[in-house]
Amino acid sequence: LQSSSDSSSPSSKIHVVVVPLPAQGHMSPMIHLCKLIARDPSFTISLVNVDSLHDEFVKHWVAPAGLEDLRLHSIPYSWQLPLGADAHALGNVGDWFTASARELPGGLEDLIRKLGEEGDPVNCIISDYFCDWTQDVADVFGIPRIILWSGTAGWSSFEYHILDLLEKNHIFHSRASPDEANAVIIDYVRGVKPLRLADVPDCLLASEGQEVLKEICIKRSPVVKRARWVLVNSFYDLEAPTFDFMASELGPRFIPAGPLFLFDDSRKNVVLRPENEDCLHWMDVQEPGSVLYISFGSIAVLSVEQFEELAGALEASKKPFLWVIRPELVVGGHSNESYNGFCERTKNQGFIVSWAPQLRVLAHPSMGAFLTHCGWNSVQESIANGIPMLGWPYGGEQNTNCKFIVEDWKIGVRFSKTVVQGLIERGEIEAGIKKVMDSEEGKKIKKRVQNLKILARKAMDKENGKSFCGLQGWLEDLKAMKLDR
Ligand code: UDX
Repeated sequence: LQSSSDSSSPSSKIHVVVVPLPAQGHMSPMIHLCKLIARDPSFTISLVNVDSLHDEFVKHWVAPAGLEDLRLHSIPYSWQLPLGADAHALGNVGDWFTASARELPGGLEDLIRKLGEEGDPVNCIISDYFCDWTQDVADVFGIPRIILWSGTAGWSSFEYHILDLLEKNHIFHSRASPDEANAVIIDYVRGVKPLRLADVPDCLLASEGQEVLKEICIKRSPVVKRARWVLVNSFYDLEAPTFDFMASELGPRFIPAGPLFLFDDSRKNVVLRPENEDCLHWMDVQEPGSVLYISFGSIAVLSVEQFEELAGALEASKKPFLWVIRPELVVGGHSNESYNGFCERTKNQGFIVSWAPQLRVLAHPSMGAFLTHCGWNSVQESIANGIPMLGWPYGGEQNTNCKFIVEDWKIGVRFSKTVVQGLIERGEIEAGIKKVMDSEEGKKIKKRVQNLKILARKAMDKENGKSFCGLQGWLEDLKAMKLDR
């Protein structure tokens, strides 16, 4: 680990400054991308954190193989990314983005200038789509910005159609009633099959904090056209029509680049919390294909009532389960008495961790099905391991991912409501578990997801995978660009 003060990379290398969105779901794919770049000795990489996250990040940072030389920097920022229940109060998210655009560009400019003065000039910025403010910084220095898009290509098409969606009053408008949201069909988002208004990314349907978010989205959407490349953490065979549409608009710079995590065999995420690896030993003694894994990613939360319904359903299902219960998963905390009772009654049935080594869990032979909040990393990791899903979206674009899972790819089932739409009772949860794990329909689902697993792996094949070769081609173009300067 080096800091800016002891950096000594020769300026003959291509110096890439990487700016992730400081949240687990965005950090994971960015670090996988860094691993891929670092394999090429022509590159040197600086990762930029914000002050409010840096100490925590460094505390858990164990340089993955290949990233020992990654240099970590931090720029001033006092805000914390809202977590737990706060993260989905969209007003908070809007304020966070507004503060980022106000406070962070100056810090990044100062850092890039300092690196240049130290003889280590920066050649390009790779940043998360949501760090659109980095484009202005790139322009100040006349260097290219490369976007990492950490969701589906389908979601990128929604962002691309923001103005059309606004014009038709379908987004950032007072929320449609559930009946209306189910009845209105959106059929003009090109590259994506027609879908219900209810399946449009939830983060665009905000009625709370909508003015701030609307302004942010209107400003952010066209910035994508100024980026030199857009690397999408998804694969062509999964979303061919969307990739074709976006490439017809943006040209070959719109590159299918996933699943990024398949690139190296370590199957390790860089995590912002300690992982409990004991669950892997527990999985070792379970029957093949028998375990139900439950995780709501890094941000989503449950009410106490919902937590208890889920616990009741797991117990009644009698399936071996591995459940990730983050300390802040239950809003207001669960009741110790009923939780302890549940743990006691299911001690031979299940295993609970506060954070799992998810990439290795999903690859384990005892995995049967994944009850997921449909965060894109989780979904893609499940697909790439051939694991059927029970989709239970929370916020963000998870509802759209769930629609793709159930209706387009047919590799999972879902409940009648999302987490935020209301309580799902234990009977419905238990029926969903049985449907995906025990029914004839479940067998068909398993077959389809196993086929997609093959395609996901083919995409990252180091001989001729479309994503892998696209990424190699992109790195060669970056090198050629440096030579031209
Ligand atoms: C968010 C959004 O929900 C998602 O839709 C968006 O595309 C990216 O950011 P998050 O809600 O945290 O992310 O979910 P997800 O995308 O699934 O990312 C979670 C990551 O944490 C995954 O890479 C997963 O493997 C990892 N994880 C999760 C663990 O390593 N251990 C765990 O116990 C839980």
